[in-house]
Amino acid sequence: MVVSVREVAALAKVSVGTVSNVMNRPEKVSPDTVERVQAAILALGFVRNDAARQLRAGRSRSIGLVVLDVGNPFFTDLARGAENRAAEAGLTVLLGNSDDDAVRENAYLDLFEEQRVHGVLISPIGDTTERLARLRERGTPTVLLDRQAENRNFSSVSVDDPAGGYTAARHLLERGRRRLAFVGGPASLRQVTDRLAGARSAVAEQAGATLEVIETTALSVLEGRRAGESVMARAASERPDAIFAANDLLAMGVLQALNMNGDVQVPGAIALIGYDDIAFASAAVVPLSSIRQPSELIGHTAVDLLLREAANGAEGEHEQIVFQPELIIRASTGG
Ligand code: RIB
Repeated sequence: MVVSVREVAALAKVSVGTVSNVMNRPEKVSPDTVERVQAAILALGFVRNDAARQLRAGRSRSIGLVVLDVGNPFFTDLARGAENRAAEAGLTVLLGNSDDDAVRENAYLDLFEEQRVHGVLISPIGDTTERLARLRERGTPTVLLDRQAENRNFSSVSVDDPAGGYTAARHLLERGRRRLAFVGGPASLRQVTDRLAGARSAVAEQAGATLEVIETTALSVLEGRRAGESVMARAASERPDAIFAANDLLAMGVLQALNMNGDVQVPGAIALIGYDDIAFASAAVVPLSSIRQPSELIGHTAVDLLLREAANGAEGEHEQIVFQPELIIRASTGG
């Protein structure tokens, strides 16, 4: 049975308005009245009807965050940064996982719009600019995450992935490696194609260096392991002497496959570098070199931009913030 505000007011012997003040502006109510009302709420098991409050207030106090893969620590670190900044503004974060599936991504965008969230942060799967433009036109501010906005019509927070890919390949070349392999996919992800493009630029500058692509169907440990096993199945002379994995989860899978077959040493026979610098990277059996992304800072900054978008409206100016990646050298490339 749903308990109403009136029943709480009657039990606490106060007006309905006082109950509302206790819930929304407790600083305006005397401490003993707050205590009496809270006791009545507890005794009756009252739960506020947020939908009604949201409609009156115009917008909910939640932010909708859509990430590509909730199983990837990069995105949970990013979500933590977003949550910390949101809490400073009295907001909460609702997390949705698109799992690199356009139907799920769209369903979350519909849900967050119906919930009249304060705004949406999204790491988009493909080119959802059109869909996000409509969302914003109907009043939901939006900021792109982990993807630089193609045009200046959206605010975005990302890392310079071509520079990150260049740095990873350059580091392998500086370690004297010449037969490089890029492990990553699907090619529908901008993060993958941008990192590969950067790696190609570095290899093109190095005489005698080659770069092959071992495409994966996801940026996961399992796919990394499959790629590693395909390398192990080759004759030693046919194997790369260095692997750049598009993210750390792939790199962990590659390391598992190489390590399971004792005769291939990392970095001796094959140097290995990943991307993101998630916590597992430094804890791997061969600590993983990686290209660090400031994941929590990306989340924190994205909420800053979203609050500005919400305050200025769709006509306000939009900002594209691009952080620089950082090379972290560990044992897997001879650090
Ligand atoms: O999930 C896709 C990848 O892109 C993550 O590992 C992270 O690197 C993000 O930028």
